Amino acid sequence: IATRRGLPKEKMSENGVLSRAKVLTIDTMNPTVKKVEYAVRGPIVLRAVELERELSEGMKKPFSEVIKANIGDAHAMGQQPITFFRQVLALCSYPELLNDSTFPEDAKSRARRILQSCGGNSMGSYTASQGIDSVRQDVARYIERRDGGVPCDPDDIYLTTGASDGIVTMLKLLVCGEGATRTGVMISIPQYPLYSAALAELGAVQINYYLNEEKCWSMDISELQRALDEARRHCNPRALCVINPGNPTGQVQSRQCIEDVIRFAANERLLLMADEVYQDNVYAEGCQFHSFKKVLFEMGPEYSDTVELVSFHSTSKCYMGECGFRGGYMEIINMDDEVKAQLTKLVSVRLCPPVPGQALMDLVVNPPQPGEPSHDNFIKERTATLSALAEKAKLTEQVLNTIQGISCNPVQGAMYSFPRITIPEKAIQEDKGQEPDMFYCMKMLEETGICLVPGSGFGQTDGTYHFRMTILPPTDKLTILLNKVKEFHQKFTQQYS
Ligand SMILES: Cc1ncc(COP(=O)(O)O)c(C=O)c1O
Repeated sequence: IATRRGLPKEKMSENGVLSRAKVLTIDTMNPTVKKVEYAVRGPIVLRAVELERELSEGMKKPFSEVIKANIGDAHAMGQQPITFFRQVLALCSYPELLNDSTFPEDAKSRARRILQSCGGNSMGSYTASQGIDSVRQDVARYIERRDGGVPCDPDDIYLTTGASDGIVTMLKLLVCGEGATRTGVMISIPQYPLYSAALAELGAVQINYYLNEEKCWSMDISELQRALDEARRHCNPRALCVINPGNPTGQVQSRQCIEDVIRFAANERLLLMADEVYQDNVYAEGCQFHSFKKVLFEMGPEYSDTVELVSFHSTSKCYMGECGFRGGYMEIINMDDEVKAQLTKLVSVRLCPPVPGQALMDLVVNPPQPGEPSHDNFIKERTATLSALAEKAKLTEQVLNTIQGISCNPVQGAMYSFPRITIPEKAIQEDKGQEPDMFYCMKMLEETGICLVPGSGFGQTDGTYHFRMTILPPTDKLTILLNKVKEFHQKFTQQYS
C-alpha cells in the first residue's frame, strides 16, 4: 500500500493496476442521508418488483399477478387522465397540432395562452423561478373562489415541483440551531413519510403528535400540548405540520378542529404547514374540506394578520392523479418580507419547476367553464373519477370491518385506509427482528401477491399494528384484493394462534 501526503491510500492490485480507496464510502458519506427512510417504496415494494419479474419468467407462485396497493399513484392503477388536460398539454408540447381540427377550440386557446407566457413561445424554456406569472394569477383566483372570496395575492404563490418540493423547501427555510436550540417540527403520527425523511435529512428534531384512532384519527389539542411541552425540554419547536385530508389515515378534520389547531399554533408561536393535496378527495357524508386559510381568515384579524401559514397543493392527487408531471404550488401567508426574499432566492437556485407541471397546475385551477366546448366532458370525467373513489372508499371500509381481527375507521377522504390489525403473540415472537406488521405484510405479499405498506413505516402507537392500503385499484380488482386480504388474515391468525 502506497500513500502520498494528502491523497487517499492507493494499492496495487494483482494485475498491476493502481486502485484508489473510494472517496465516498458508507462511512464517509453524509450521515443524515443514511437516516432517511421511505416506507412507501421500502423492502416490500422491492420484493413486489422481484415477484413480478419471477412471474414473468414463468416461476410458479400461489397467485397470478402482483396487485400494488402501496402507493397513491392513481394512473398506475388504471385511472384515466382528464382529456382536456392532456389535449392542452399535447398542444403546448407540439404547437403544430394547433392546426389540427380534431382539437377543441377551448383547448387551443388555453394552449396559446400558456405558450404566450413561455420564453420563445416554447414549453422548453425556463420560466421565472416562482413560476409563470399568469399561472400564479390563476392559482390566486382559484384560491379566492375556493375560500369564498378571501383575497389571495399572486405574489404569495410559488409554483413547485409537486407538493414535495414545496414542503422540503419550507423546512429548509426553518431549520437551524444546535443542541437544545435545534429546530423541532411537529408532525402527526401516523404520518406521510416525506416529513420524517426530510426532517432526518435536514437534521431537524421530529416531534410526534399522535392522531386519535378511537375518534377517527382526529387531532387532539391536549395531545399537541403534551408533545410540544415534552419537546421544549430538548429542542426549539417552530412549526406544526397538518395533513388534511389525511395520509395514511384517510380522515377529514372538522372545521372546529382546524380552528382549535390555528389557535394553538398562534398561542404557541408555531408556523403552520397545511398539506392540502387531497382537497377534492372528500367522500363521507357530513364531511367537508375546510382550507386552513379560509378558517384562519374567518377567525378575524387577531389571527389572520399574524399566524404564519403555508399551504400546499399538487396536480398528483384529487381527480387528476397526474403524479408524473410534478406540478404543485404553495401559498405563503404572513411571511416576513425578508424571509420571503430569501425563499425567492432559494428557489431561483434551482431555476424553475417543470413547465408541463406548471401548465397542468394552471388547467387544474382554471378548468373549462360552462359554455366552453370541453366543459361537459370535463365535468363528466371528473365526476366519474371522484364517484368511483367514493364508492371504493366505502367498499374498503365495509369489507375490512367484516374481518375478525381487523378494524377500519371510515375512509372519509384522501386515497387510503389504515386499518388496525391484531397480530397473534406467536407471530410477534416469530418475526425475527422485523416489525410485526412488516412480517405480516411480507407474508401476505409472498402468499397472495398483494403489496401493502406496514403501519410501522408511518409510525403508530406502540403495541398497535396497521397496514396502509390505497383505494385506487379498479373496483373489480379491489374486490378481489379485499377478499384475498380476508382469506390471508384468517389463515395467518389460525397459523399463529
Ligand atoms: C400528504 C401528501 N403530501 C405530499 C405528497 C407529495 O405529492 P407530490 O406528488 O405533489 O409531490 C403526497 C404524495 O402522496 C402526500 O400524500
